Amino acid sequence: ETIIRRVDVNNIDNNIIVEAAEILKKGQLVAFPTETVYGIGANALDINAVEKIYKAKGRPSDNPLIVHVADKEDVKRYVLNINSTAQKLMDEFWPGPLTLIFEKKDIIPDKITGGLSTVAIRMPSHVIARNIIRSSGLPIAAPSANVSGKPSPTKAEHVINDLSGKVDMIVDGGFCKIGLESTVVDVSESVPTILRPGGVTKEMLEDVIGLVKVDPAIKSNNKDIVPKAPGMKYRHYAPNADLTIFKGETHNVISHINNLVSMEEEKGTKVGIIATKQTQNDFECVNIINIGDKKNPKEIAANLFKVLRDFDDMNVDVIYCEAFSIKDIGTATMNRLMKAAGNKVIDID
Ligand code: TXA
Ligand code: MG
Repeated sequence: ETIIRRVDVNNIDNNIIVEAAEILKKGQLVAFPTETVYGIGANALDINAVEKIYKAKGRPSDNPLIVHVADKEDVKRYVLNINSTAQKLMDEFWPGPLTLIFEKKDIIPDKITGGLSTVAIRMPSHVIARNIIRSSGLPIAAPSANVSGKPSPTKAEHVINDLSGKVDMIVDGGFCKIGLESTVVDVSESVPTILRPGGVTKEMLEDVIGLVKVDPAIKSNNKDIVPKAPGMKYRHYAPNADLTIFKGETHNVISHINNLVSMEEEKGTKVGIIATKQTQNDFECVNIINIGDKKNPKEIAANLFKVLRDFDDMNVDVIYCEAFSIKDIGTATMNRLMKAAGNKVIDID
């Protein structure tokens, strides 16, 4: 039986925070909102609790978890060394959507790190997440609160659909503002490397620490390049429907998609289109969802996973989507969209 509690972000009921913290202290699972996506939390130092996370998600055991802390000072208990690069990033971007990879201390169980010598740590800015973590007095391991392979949850409803009966408590704190998972940066080696793009962009990082590398596996479709973040190798974020991305001049993309839709609908295929504020009236299709304003990459990022799940609820067979600009958080949006599409991109021009 899963306890579900609604918390108003602007008027937090501390009894619910304490209830969640107590459940975590008992070695049980609590799903809670963060500014990126909902996470399933467990005591990171309790191997049995961590084991429950992998079971609830159906997650492969080689895919390591992020340890969430409530305060910067906590990090030194879990890592061998905080170098100046890491310190600068923590000072600039924490609390917030940035995860850092450090060499771990022995106190961090191998179960969390998938046997790696490094550990991922993040200090979330969401007030409910921080209050629960602080109140538990524990480091909290928390992957995204979806069943493995599904789009990450940005609303409590998504968590309830995926994890009812599989976790002990779900804290409903409304919508996650950023809507894509945190940027993961490896600061354990000499040149910092982005392992997963997110809300903190390469440009934002470089403004603070200079040159930053991007894991080549992120930019390439080549399956032989193994990503350094084990989770990035999976076909993640996937809706049930078959998603295809179309690149090219907007006008060409629209007419190409409209042709495809009429062909597919004739065959009895149920088609969904991810449109923008600018293009939604140009498509000829029954199932169109407006993901947001092209001029506002943050809005598109925040809506992506919700739109993918909405199409699942509508039971469409295929989804067509125009490629988005990679400005700002757009790099992360396109990374997730490409994964959801299993890298299926058609170039129209
Ligand atoms: O925004 C987020 O980061 C959310 C919220 C809940 O905080 N959490 C999240 O966790 O996205 P998860 O488990 O879904 O993704 C963690 C990613 C995976 O790609 C994993 O492989 C990578 O971080 N990762 C974790 N520890 C690592 C390590 N030691 N070295 C390399 N990659 C690591
Ligand atoms: Mg995840």
